[in-house]
Amino acid sequence: MCGIVGYYGDEEASEKVFRGLKKLEYRGYDSAGIATAGNPTIKTEKAVGEVEEVRNPDIDGTSGIGHTRWATHGGVTQENAHPHVSEQEKVAVVHNGIIENYQELKQQIDAEFKSETDTEVIPHLLEEKLRQNTIKDAVNKVMKKLEGSYAVAAMLDTGELIAFRKGSPLVLGIDNGEYHLASDVTPFLKHTSKAVFLEDGDYAVIDGDHTVYNSGKQVSREIQEIDWDAEQASKEGHNHFMEKEIKEQPKTVKRAAYQDKSDLEKAVDMIESAEDVYLTGCGTASFAASLGAKYIRESGHEAHSEQSHELEYRSDEITEEDIVIAVSQSGETADLLSLLDETQADVLAVVNVVGSTLARQADHKLYVNAGPEIGVASTKAFTAQLTVLKLIAYSLENRTEEGREKLLDTAEKISETIDANRQEIEELSTYLVEKDHVYFIGRDKGYEMAREANLKLKELSYIHAEAFPGGEFKHGTLALVEEGTPVVAFLREDYSQAYNNMMEAHSRGADIVSVGDTKIEESNFHIDMPEDENPEILEIVPFQMAAYLTAVKKGHNPDKPRNLAKSVTVK
Ligand code: F6R
Repeated sequence: MCGIVGYYGDEEASEKVFRGLKKLEYRGYDSAGIATAGNPTIKTEKAVGEVEEVRNPDIDGTSGIGHTRWATHGGVTQENAHPHVSEQEKVAVVHNGIIENYQELKQQIDAEFKSETDTEVIPHLLEEKLRQNTIKDAVNKVMKKLEGSYAVAAMLDTGELIAFRKGSPLVLGIDNGEYHLASDVTPFLKHTSKAVFLEDGDYAVIDGDHTVYNSGKQVSREIQEIDWDAEQASKEGHNHFMEKEIKEQPKTVKRAAYQDKSDLEKAVDMIESAEDVYLTGCGTASFAASLGAKYIRESGHEAHSEQSHELEYRSDEITEEDIVIAVSQSGETADLLSLLDETQADVLAVVNVVGSTLARQADHKLYVNAGPEIGVASTKAFTAQLTVLKLIAYSLENRTEEGREKLLDTAEKISETIDANRQEIEELSTYLVEKDHVYFIGRDKGYEMAREANLKLKELSYIHAEAFPGGEFKHGTLALVEEGTPVVAFLREDYSQAYNNMMEAHSRGADIVSVGDTKIEESNFHIDMPEDENPEILEIVPFQMAAYLTAVKKGHNPDKPRNLAKSVTVK
């Protein structure tokens, strides 16, 4: 949700910043901008639209900052695009997050505001404080005034960079005298694997060296080694990241299944000693959490699941005796982090992004090891989350090794499942392009599959789609079914009841897309599934592919669905 980048070094900053922004474009693509510092002035280039719009800007300097925006405050206009520059043009700022008290701050600042954004208060405040303070003290004073969440990269006209954060992520890459700032590590992986993850309340001054402070005092932050390689964050010959990420799943599911023995045991201990177990997440991760709760219940332990933003309304029911299992690809989702702030319970994170806020704040974490997921719609992270949650459930039954073998078997069948259904998926996507409404139904774990398949289709193709428990469909929504309405039925769980629900739609004229291991005579399309102990990991893959192809056929960019962004760092 907005990507920010900074560069300090000896080379032309605009090019470095542009390349970095391209890697962060998944965080928002409403507008983009770059500023460089070449004494005595700050120069900016901004445009509405994708990062490509600011390629080759005619601005020089060896320090630079850049931004790719997902609009919150203020429309999608050039004026509202970041960077924002202070009155005397001594400070330029890019920001990810929301300054909640910006209206109040605006009243106190004597400057002409050029945008409608909350961000613009920051350069004005910094410039004002820098008149009478050192950089260190000025930043400390500005941070005290800001309420809300922010990751900020500021650049002075003299070239120094300042980074500060509260709530939103910010990482510093350290590369032999060059420095890279970014919302996550992907922009600088090509240059360096050494990173400092700034903690909440930290601010860093980068002026040829880097010094980190918190609340006015210098602090030391460990330089971490990141073992993701830059290749993983490139398309590697595929048309889109999403296509590559779908196809990577045989590998990523295997990687997820290899969890460190003692880390897994600690996770199991936490669950066994907890009074109550709550699994939570948002969007796709919430469906993984919901399935995770079912896996844990099947292993004989009580577990509940609810989406984080809703669970927060009853966070006081979660006590210190309980455990929250927080599922997230990015580890930066504000709705999830906010819930965790409100609870007393220990947190076990099931998370993908190394060094993310969730990974750092949790009491214990299991990385799902899916590697960088760049496509905005989650694919490989989902199946990796299911793998880790299922492995936890196997471990709760003391069947870790046997369970791992089964998960590795499942991973082997992913490519087979795509290959066996390739033509059907292709034809299904061509059929869906012409449709305005699609319904997904499934029972028990088939319901989560229906929800995730439904989310994939609607967010990528913009076709209206809804998912229901099979039993619920007839309680109202069936009224919307008419001749030719597509109904996708996941038939594995509670087969005969699910079949009946599907037939209730079929007999009202619905076109049926069935999913399961038995071909149904009445189906217009059938996605055939192999026998497997972990069918959820397999069942979603053809629908990721179908949603991807439908989006491409409709002329949409599946990597960047409209109005969305990869990590949702606002509530
Ligand atoms: C949908 C999708 C989102 C995310 C949700 C949570 O394809 O990707 O629904 O799953 O925004 O994000 P994370 O997993 O980063 O917490």
